Amino acid sequence: NRTIYTAGRPPWYNCAGQQVEPFVIGICGGSASGKTTVAEKIIESLDVPWVTLLSMDCFYKILNEKQHEQALINEYNFDHPDAFDIELLLDVLTKLKEGRKVEVPVYNFVTHGRESQTKTMYGANVIIFEGILTFHSPEVLKLLDMKIFVDTDPDIRLARRLKRDISQRGRDLRGVLKQYLNMVKPSYCNYIAPTMAHADIIVPRGGENKVAIHLIVQHVHTQLQLRGFKLRETLANSYKDQPMP
Ligand code: C5P
Repeated sequence: NRTIYTAGRPPWYNCAGQQVEPFVIGICGGSASGKTTVAEKIIESLDVPWVTLLSMDCFYKILNEKQHEQALINEYNFDHPDAFDIELLLDVLTKLKEGRKVEVPVYNFVTHGRESQTKTMYGANVIIFEGILTFHSPEVLKLLDMKIFVDTDPDIRLARRLKRDISQRGRDLRGVLKQYLNMVKPSYCNYIAPTMAHADIIVPRGGENKVAIHLIVQHVHTQLQLRGFKLRETLANSYKDQPMP
């Protein structure tokens, strides 16, 4: 029951009326490593009412005409740090961490561009930020309370990526392989894998790693409780036999 937590206030206040700073989890890993699955499993197990999932894909830069032509022939490097609008990303993440409402771009992988409409996101108790280069910018790193790297076998990632890009992102076999060998794989080695050093936890195999998900969820619960946030069960028990506020 969400009203137990908010009692008429925004969700980032605890029942004592104090502001609870959102706990921000960064999830990094190569393309098709299972970052989103790990995020979804954490959300499922957290049992916290207000969780926001933000993807780094939303912050791909708008391409000029020449870059767009390169993208259409799989020659634009979407795996290089320069492909992302880090300034906008920092602004959005900072505001979410302050519990403020933000407008987030919606990215379209088929057109390689942003949709005309944006998505409204609100401050939350837990914010999960996932993407291939979430640990690259030192300013972004400072905003993350917990850093998780999803480490999945490269063959599995390539197999998944082929299937996904052809079925969901309007690509063909030759194009996916060309982009993977020329840009995705080298960028993983040069820019993504080295950021594993920033991780607090490395999760092998991704979302199927139940033990890792359990440990992560336990840590988030502890951190939220330290911040004065009461978990659903604890709060329900403390209100037992008392009139609801
Ligand atoms: O979902 P995932 O983390 O795999 O998304 C990131 C990948 O999307 C990058 O490896 C990049 O090569 C790819 N991408 C693409 N076309 C775009 C934007 C990103 O293939 N227009």
